[in-house]
Amino acid sequence: MKKYKTAIVVGSLRKESLNRKMAQAFIKLSAENLEAEIVEIGNLPLYNEDLEENVPEAWTAFRNAMITFDAVLFVTPEYNRSVPGALKNALDVGSRPYGKSVWDRKPGAVISVSPGAIGGFGANHHLRQSLVFLNVPVLQQPEAYIGKADKLFDSNGNIKNDSTTEFLNKFIAAFTNWIANNQS
Ligand code: FNR
Repeated sequence: MKKYKTAIVVGSLRKESLNRKMAQAFIKLSAENLEAEIVEIGNLPLYNEDLEENVPEAWTAFRNAMITFDAVLFVTPEYNRSVPGALKNALDVGSRPYGKSVWDRKPGAVISVSPGAIGGFGANHHLRQSLVFLNVPVLQQPEAYIGKADKLFDSNGNIKNDSTTEFLNKFIAAFTNWIANNQS
């Protein structure tokens, strides 16, 4: 079976990010189904339409990289009940120039990760609002709100909790089917 090339966009820029740990755990757990890798967003200059006249190299590299992927997974923290600015910026950078959006019709999924009890629900759904406009078909079920994530990883970044691993395996199976059924 084809392994779908999947970009993972992580909404947190910090080194010890729980979301980055989740992305790395996802890469390992999905290795039989997907060829997944993190695409970095921390070096993208803030979106400014004026820069389209002399496009920053980092924007071009990001746009060119993203179009090579069959699918995209967003793994994001919640900042003030919404998505972090860095992630919104990456969405905006990838959406332009008009008519050349890298997101258009690319099958996607969202995992939100937080030490809090409600698992970044607000960020997860704010992100989905933008993804509707960007024409990303987003996996509906299972939803992935990963709470109490500060207790989730051991010192090597492995998931300590078997039920979370089991859940992620179900999520990966559903996402793989979703990608297969939404190839354009
Ligand atoms: C947070 N945090 C947070 N958590 C949450 O569940 N809901 C929220 O609205 C917010 N708001 C928020 C704003 C800002 C500016 C920061 C820095 C943090 C806490 C957040 O979930 C926690 O720091 C996570 O560990 C961030 O994810 P990473 O960096 O570990 O991936």
